[in-house]
Amino acid sequence: MALLGVNVDHVATIRQARGGTEPDPVAAAALAELAGADGITVHLREDRRHIQDRDVRLLRQTVQTRLNLEMAATDEMVAIALDILPDSVTLVPEKREELTTEGGLDVCLHRNLIRKQTELLRQGGISVSLFIDPDLEQVKAAHRVGADFIEIHTGSYCEAGNEDLRRRELEKIETALRAGRKLGLGVNAGHGLNYQNVGPVARMSGFHEFNIGHSIVSRAVLVGMDRAVRDMVALIR
Ligand code: PXP
Repeated sequence: MALLGVNVDHVATIRQARGGTEPDPVAAAALAELAGADGITVHLREDRRHIQDRDVRLLRQTVQTRLNLEMAATDEMVAIALDILPDSVTLVPEKREELTTEGGLDVCLHRNLIRKQTELLRQGGISVSLFIDPDLEQVKAAHRVGADFIEIHTGSYCEAGNEDLRRRELEKIETALRAGRKLGLGVNAGHGLNYQNVGPVARMSGFHEFNIGHSIVSRAVLVGMDRAVRDMVALIR
């Protein structure tokens, strides 16, 4: 049975819209946990557009399940992670101008850097996941650089405009899932998953966890975090 990691970045996006103190992603994380979330994820971006350093520090003290920190593979972020010690780090590519994380990490191209950062994090006792496209070469490269987990980028599936494309993207996801499991990696998935499209991915057996943010926070704005998380838990179980 797969787990649900709730990404609370966009609670912070609403707060940053006014530069004040509410809504607080730390409070949102506590409510998500009470509603059944198995973990809390935040992305500390280089430009600090939503989650702030203070949020990650407070979440480290308050999260009762597991704290997963998404971050770029930079020296600054690795130093922050080794100081705050989240349970896991998910390394993601990051470009300043993007609206959200647009593609997976190119582990093949950046293998030396990613191997070095993965080693440093793992030596600090942090489990490391690499966010990659559903591509066999990337899965193998993630295994070679010593990652514990991969997170399969589901964005292309979620954005597929017709049934044929959707089916092909699902096949790629399933192939990457099987390959990752065969290599002994834990396999997560995320990006763009919502209440309408999560079903076919949730039905594949072998996933460890789904990391879902925007759709849950969007629903939470209208019906509350408790109901939004419970609805998603029901769908993925
Ligand atoms: N997983 C990763 C690695 C991400 O970068 C994101 C977006 O921050 C998510 C999952 C969650 O994506 P969404 O907000 O579209 O659910």
